Amino acid sequence: MKEQVTVSKPGLIETHLEAGGKTQSEVAGKAQPEIVGAIHAEVPAETPSVERFKLVERVQHLVLLTTFLGAAFTGMPLKYKTSWWAAPLMSTYGGVWIAGRIHRFFAATMLLLSVFHLGYLAYYMLVKRISPFKMPLFPTWNDVKQVGQNLAYFLGLRKERPAFTKFAYYEKFDYWAVFWGIVIIGGSGLVLWFPTLATRVLPGIAVNVALIMHSDEALLAVLAIFIWHFYNVHWNPDIFPMNWTMFTGRISLARLKEEHRGEYQQLVEDGVIRPLGGAAGHGHHDR
Ligand code: HEM
Repeated sequence: MKEQVTVSKPGLIETHLEAGGKTQSEVAGKAQPEIVGAIHAEVPAETPSVERFKLVERVQHLVLLTTFLGAAFTGMPLKYKTSWWAAPLMSTYGGVWIAGRIHRFFAATMLLLSVFHLGYLAYYMLVKRISPFKMPLFPTWNDVKQVGQNLAYFLGLRKERPAFTKFAYYEKFDYWAVFWGIVIIGGSGLVLWFPTLATRVLPGIAVNVALIMHSDEALLAVLAIFIWHFYNVHWNPDIFPMNWTMFTGRISLARLKEEHRGEYQQLVEDGVIRPLGGAAGHGHHDR
């Protein structure tokens, strides 16, 4: 799938890598002289890498991260108001009322971000004419197969990880959990924020239901982020302490080969990169 293979700035494909103790020049692309020029301009300082996330995507992630933490840290002491940590936390915000306003500020920003993200998707669909089914985060049958293959790999029944494309099934799961999570938490949050308005169309019990939905979805989201998502990007021993890709936008070829072999092979096939020498090892890589 070509859309998945994004090397938006081919001139920036760093091309020197350490292989077998020697620095080896890797020329990216079959006949792309501007890349070759960049190779020499960008001497070995960096690990060979390709772009994984565009700036507009990284900024969206940063806003999501900030607003999520802001909403979680102001919402949780309300949910667990009788816990020992809730009162001191509330006092640092200047009291429950102010915490509620801070919560609404982050919540509103998150909702604006969601609208922007929908616009971003619409741009790809309507202007760039890319079908949603062809977008790299769209779940496919291959993902289902790769769940099985990955389990087999974890159980030692398979030598290699599945050849994940741009996004592995667990990354797609992350994305869609947030997508529907925001629909639930945002929808119920708006009912809590504007109960009089909401009950003009909804029955009164909707406010109680919204509180349960909001509160429990918030707990689920916090647990999913701090356990599941943080395992994938921080706690995993191959990654600890931090995977920087979401901030730098780049992924090293070594990690691409190991974690997204399908995409790596596609880039090699398309002549965008030359294959890395030797097998990508396990363990730590420059990210
Ligand atoms: C996205 C839009 C969101 C909106 C519109 C929203 C709105 C609200 C409102 C109006 C309240 C009541 C606060 C008060 O009475 O002062 C509330 C409570 C709360 N919010 Fe949000 N919120 C949003 C997102 C989030 C997120 C992302 C989280 C955490 C991950 C979160 C966690 C909570 C919690 C834990 C409570 C307390 C619930 C309880 O008392 O059991 N909210 N929210």
